[in-house]
Parts: sequence; C-alpha cells; structure tokens
Amino acid sequence: MQVYTSKAELSAFISKKKHPVFSLGFVPTMGALHVGHLSLVKAALAENTLVVVSIFVNPTQFDNPTDLNKYPRNLTQDIQLLETLSTTALLVYAPTVKDIYGSQTKSEPFDFGGLESQMEGKFRSGHFDGVGTIVKRLFQIVKPNAAYFGEKDFQQLQIIKKMVELTGLPVNIIGCPIEREPNGLAMSSRNSRLSDKELKTADLIYKTLKSVKEKFKSEPSEEISQWVRTQFKNHPLFELEYFQISESETLAPIQQKNQTKTYRAFIAVFARDVRLIDNIALN
Ligand code: PAF
Repeated sequence: MQVYTSKAELSAFISKKKHPVFSLGFVPTMGALHVGHLSLVKAALAENTLVVVSIFVNPTQFDNPTDLNKYPRNLTQDIQLLETLSTTALLVYAPTVKDIYGSQTKSEPFDFGGLESQMEGKFRSGHFDGVGTIVKRLFQIVKPNAAYFGEKDFQQLQIIKKMVELTGLPVNIIGCPIEREPNGLAMSSRNSRLSDKELKTADLIYKTLKSVKEKFKSEPSEEISQWVRTQFKNHPLFELEYFQISESETLAPIQQKNQTKTYRAFIAVFARDVRLIDNIALN
C-alpha cells in the first residue's frame, strides 16, 4: 500500500494518474480504523477508479485536550486492515500536522446556518469549525470527485454538505449507513477504549433508539425524551449527555410533528470519559 505523508507527493502522484475517465474517491478518517471505515472504503472503491484514505487526527476539532491525547492511533494496524481489501486502487495519505496546518494550527470560522449550534455543537465548542477546516483543506489537497462519510456522525455529514455548498468545491458528498457491532453498538474508534463490561452493556444505546423509533409513531416527542432520560438515570455505567429529536435537514429540534418532514433521534452518552454518539431515522 502506498502511504504518502506529504501533500506535494500525494498531489504529484494523483495528477500523473488523471485521465478523462478517472474518478477519485476519498474517505477522510482519523485512523483507528474498523469495519465501519472499511465499509466506506468499499463503497468508494465500487464507484471510483482510485481511492484515497486520509488518516489524520485533527487537533482543531478537539475541544478537550485529554480526548485528543487519548484518541487511539496505530498507523501500522490501520494499513494492515486496509491491505485486507487486496486492491491496488487504494492509497493512504497520513500527513503530519505541519503538512496540513503549517505553522498555525487553528481553524477557520464558518457559518453553517445554525447546523453547528445543535447537539454536538452545543457540547463541543469549536468542533465543527475544526471539522469544516480540515475537510475543506483535505478536499483542496486530494481534489476528489466524491467523498464518503458515515451517518453515525450525521450532524457532521450535514455540516460537510453545507461547507461544500458554501465553498463551491466540486465534491459529491455521499452518506453511508451506520455499521454496528453484533449487539447494536454503533462502530466507533472510541469503542476500543471501553471495558468488556461497558462494551456489552452499551447495547442499551441502540436498544433505546429503536424503542424511540417505535414510540415516535404514537407518542409526543417530549414524553419520549423524558422516557429516554429515565433509561439512563442513575445508570451505573452510562451518563446521558443529550437526547434530541430533530428535523433531518435543519437539525432543529422537533416542534410540532409535521407529516411532510423527516426526523431523526440523536444521542450522546459517556462511559467514564469515553463519549459515544448514535442516531436513528424515525420516519
Ligand atoms: O469523522 C471523522 O473521523 C473526522 O471528523 C473527519 C471527517 C475525518 C475530519 O477530521
């Protein structure tokens, strides 16, 4: 597997490859790759002639230095996992912070039209400016035709679509379904930091979301939110950070249920200092 650590070398390689039928797919990641990432890479490989996977733990999207320091990093293992796909149509871009940010590791401010002030944005200050900044820079370096993101980070997906609209970058943004562990826990790099007991018990998150979906057919959203809070109240392992039912497009919290709109339920839960998020389409 070809691994590039500098944008100059990556760009030189890609521009040599370009010809009229060339289509470049891109999967941006922060490494600690798992089956969920592989499903994005497989989707990209199915639709493009060459796929770049970036592996970069982006400092500007972390509001909490402990979370940044503890974020799992293992490039060798990541490459081994990608090699299981046995393809020459895949390459890795694993830049240094300097290659991306030069001497100024800071994010650019964005106005995402209110998408950034909901949920993750409320609890992780500056997070989406960091995401917008890194994804914009990566798109400018890699110049992909299409980029693939998991729906586990549904708010991030909407933010990136908005960033593309604001910047006019010619990239098709593709959302891919959430991959889950056998017990329903959404796959995440952070799951590797859970104890066996936490991993097992974390099925509560998806079970709760599935019940929410069922309840949404007949119960008012405020009652559902109250019910979710009771599921986590005094739980020995998990602490609920937020639960919100939102309109899928604007991410605004539901007011009056409207049959012409689609809704999603979003949840964030802490297991000690490990933060887990998940969401589900309700209609
Ligand atoms: O979802 C992630 O892993 C990151 O937020 C992303 C999109 C790679 C940007 O750093």
